[in-house]
Amino acid sequence: MKVILYVFSGTGNTLSVAALYKKYLDANVEIYRVSEKSGPFPAPDGYDLIGVGYPIHAFNPPEPIIKFVKSLPAVAYRRAFIFKTSGEGLHLNDCSSQKLIKILSKKGYDIAFERHIVMPYNMIYRHSDAMAKQMWIYAQALVELNCREISERKREKIKQPFYKTFYAPPLRWLEQKFAHIHGPLFRVNAKKCVNCNRCVNICPENNIRIENGKFKFGHRCVLCMGCSFNCPSDAISVGIFKFWKVNGSYRLTELEKDDSIPFPIVPDKAKGMQRLYKKYFRECDERLEEAGMQKPGARN
Ligand SMILES: Cc1cc2nc3c(=O)[nH]c(=O)nc-3n(C[C@H](O)[C@H](O)[C@H](O)COP(=O)(O)O)c2cc1C
Repeated sequence: MKVILYVFSGTGNTLSVAALYKKYLDANVEIYRVSEKSGPFPAPDGYDLIGVGYPIHAFNPPEPIIKFVKSLPAVAYRRAFIFKTSGEGLHLNDCSSQKLIKILSKKGYDIAFERHIVMPYNMIYRHSDAMAKQMWIYAQALVELNCREISERKREKIKQPFYKTFYAPPLRWLEQKFAHIHGPLFRVNAKKCVNCNRCVNICPENNIRIENGKFKFGHRCVLCMGCSFNCPSDAISVGIFKFWKVNGSYRLTELEKDDSIPFPIVPDKAKGMQRLYKKYFRECDERLEEAGMQKPGARN
């Protein structure tokens, strides 16, 4: 089986999950990163299965992945699935794929199911190392299970009723418009900047340029946070999201191997904000148990 995963990812979480699909699927899997910096995308007709991956932004897919699926050619029939990452397992996030499902279905893509994987936040606040480790370990188990389901040709109902989705379109409109207007408020602190140009090289919308030795941020920002998250000297300020900035990779594979970081921390000893994630991990455990897979927490 030949599989292509078309993935938009601002700070790497969704790409990390895509890499798990590549690891666990018994197939020839290619990953195409949706970015202005990537070359032309591989046409879907050469593949047996199409995956579309994105991070949830304000209960919606980010603008670049919507534009991308609009640019996909119509097909006679192609099996497809959607995977998405987000900072919370809230069911308010469940409606996020409806727009993509509509566009893809009209073009002949048969979406068999979608999967939601919770990953450490890239905005609002930084998850603790222990929480990030737990999310990453669960992400692996969930993708492994999903890859089995793919090979069993599992199908699920994906369309949602209006009362569960009505808030998504206005929020999408607001987030997209706001991101463009707000873009130029990003700034680089020249005293901290080490001139590595990583922000320029990483921006998927080519929104950052250097003019007379100064970094300029334009109106094409989609609030992916790739620039500020990946800045090695934390030199980028993010306009009104000043108090929501998260900087620096979570080093997920290193965390996983680090035995000094406790696992599992949720649900057994859930404290404060961790309690919000209790339900998500419980639901994951139930799904894994139902499929006859070991619960990640039970492996210790
Ligand atoms: C602008 C923006 C909006 C976000 N909105 C949501 C949201 O509505 N729900 C949520 O659970 N997480 C939200 N997040 C968190 C991301 O979905 C999450 O960290 C995701 O895994 C990032 O994936 P990436 O690294 O592939 O970009 C948001 C992040 C950003 C930057």
